[in-house]
Amino acid sequence: MKEPIETNRLILREVLSTDVEGMFELDSNPNVHIYIGKKPVVDIEESRNYIVNLQQQYKDHGTGRWAVVLKETNEFIGWSGIKFITDEINNHKDFYEIGYRFIEKHWGKGYATEAGKAFIDYAFNVMKVEALYAYADEGNDNSRKILEKLGLQYVNTFEHEEEMEVWYKLKNPNV
Ligand SMILES: CC(C)(COP(=O)(O)OP(=O)(O)OC[C@H]1O[C@@H](n2cnc3c(N)ncnc32)[C@H](O)[C@@H]1OP(=O)(O)O)[C@@H](O)C(=O)NCCC(=O)NCCS
Repeated sequence: MKEPIETNRLILREVLSTDVEGMFELDSNPNVHIYIGKKPVVDIEESRNYIVNLQQQYKDHGTGRWAVVLKETNEFIGWSGIKFITDEINNHKDFYEIGYRFIEKHWGKGYATEAGKAFIDYAFNVMKVEALYAYADEGNDNSRKILEKLGLQYVNTFEHEEEMEVWYKLKNPNV
């Protein structure tokens, strides 16, 4: 298990099987899924399987989505982190992608940006990845705002799974 990362208000750590209730609260909310496929989960078993998949990413690639936990209350508020993507997306394959998904009551407090900054720092200075990528539904303004605050730059718009998506990139200045 990797060492957790601490920020001002958050603990970022690998996802645990005990996060299942928070994960279900997150993914059963249709508002959370508006720009990520519109298929909220209906059974907590799906969240259990999702966690197993996230944990498999750690084993396969040494990285993946991590739980974001509020320092003050120790509650699971969502996930973020660096995923290694082996599928081909927008003519890229085998790349590192930054992503985030938070329980709705925790939106609008800057947590996604705070976690994102810490993960970029980790990716560039600890993992030493050459570049980070991200993509979002073209209309997902909240997500695009975070990417821009994190310093990623818009590259192009492309079609993926029948949606128009925007592609962003940030090069590691140190490699
Ligand atoms: C995308 C998502 C993570 C964005 O969450 P968010 O809470 O809007 O993003 P941030 O954490 O960066 O918060 C930003 C807001 O917090 C406000 N804020 C409040 N307190 C703050 C603080 N202490 N520090 C920084 N910002 C703060 C900011 O002003 C900003 O509001 P604004 O956008 O109106 O200017 C969230 O909407 C989500 O989980 N959506 C569903 C899943 C999804 O679409 N994921 C992305 C797929 S590509």
